[in-house]
Amino acid sequence: MQRVATLLGALLVMAALWPASGLDMSARAQSPIQADGQNPMGARPTADSVNEEFLFKQSPKITGRISIPDGKAANLIQPQGRQYQMFREGWLPWIGALVILGMLAALAAFFLYRGRILTDHSQESGKKILRFNAFERFTHWMTAVCFIILSLSGLNYIFGKRLLMPLIGPDAFGALAQWAKYSHVYLAWPFMLGVIFMVVVWVRDNIPNRIDWEWIKAGGGFIGSKHPHAGRFNAGQKGVFWMVAGFGAAMGATGLMMLFPFAVFDVNGMQVMQVIHSLIGVVFIAGILAHIYIGTLGMKGAYDAMGSGKVDLAWARTHHDLWVEQEQARTASGPQVASHPAPAE
Ligand code: HEM
Repeated sequence: MQRVATLLGALLVMAALWPASGLDMSARAQSPIQADGQNPMGARPTADSVNEEFLFKQSPKITGRISIPDGKAANLIQPQGRQYQMFREGWLPWIGALVILGMLAALAAFFLYRGRILTDHSQESGKKILRFNAFERFTHWMTAVCFIILSLSGLNYIFGKRLLMPLIGPDAFGALAQWAKYSHVYLAWPFMLGVIFMVVVWVRDNIPNRIDWEWIKAGGGFIGSKHPHAGRFNAGQKGVFWMVAGFGAAMGATGLMMLFPFAVFDVNGMQVMQVIHSLIGVVFIAGILAHIYIGTLGMKGAYDAMGSGKVDLAWARTHHDLWVEQEQARTASGPQVASHPAPAE
């Protein structure tokens, strides 16, 4: 009887001590630091050096000591990386979706309100005027094709994992994302060249002047049916030109910084480059969507200017009257292109 009581007592004491000993062991397993402040590896971390928050306040990053030549590898924790991740995974997809879908919705609403801007057939002269020569058209389409592929592959960086991968599966998405990345990296070069060419051939006709202000005040002919005066490019087109020149330069510069990592900036700087690149990128895409709309669906006859390079003289007089006058004065023989019969419709 006494033996049984002793056994029960021992079991009770063990049961009471069990959780405490478990806690103690797990705590010891998590912290390699011994009671004397040393750890088994021989280092002597003080209470401050293991306080992450304290270290963040002291220095923007936590660095260790290394013996390999690549000094960047010593960077253990970079607090800005967390903000960057929050932007990249949290804010950016929302900002991108809002800006791009917002522009599509605005264009759809504008189309419903205004419809297609037409040139009355009876007004067509049957005579054509050369609006863009072969080099200008080559430059435009090289830049445009590159831009479209850069946009799609760029949007894949932001949305692909979320939207495309669940649809086509991880294997197909992996292959596609790899090609998207190659195209993004390689097509950036002809795109940058195209922007440089555009600036060289068109900057002269895109210097803002007083006529642009009048054009803006008149609503650019989009509101109402009157067409304000315009030179070779109206104020809206000048806006597109300067957007392409400015955003093109910014995308090129920030893209090059990412293409050649650590050539100029450290990891913090590269994250800043990525934030600028992606934010300008989505606004650029939205702006070009508006340009594509007006060059195709939005205005009858506009596409011909970049398609064949020639537009109907009456269309040109309606939308770019001052340019037509200038061209006719320059060639002294009216439109530069021989007359064609007006289409029988
Ligand atoms: C499918 C896509 C596109 C179409 C259908 C298109 C159409 C056009 C047309 C019709 C014009 C001549 C307008 C005029 O008569 O003055 C034009 C001009 C121009 N395009 Fe595009 N374009 C496209 C994409 C792009 C892209 C991606 C860029 C640049 C990133 C771009 C930049 C320009 C510039 C700077 C001009 C001269 C300024 C202006 O007219 O707005 N285009 N485009």
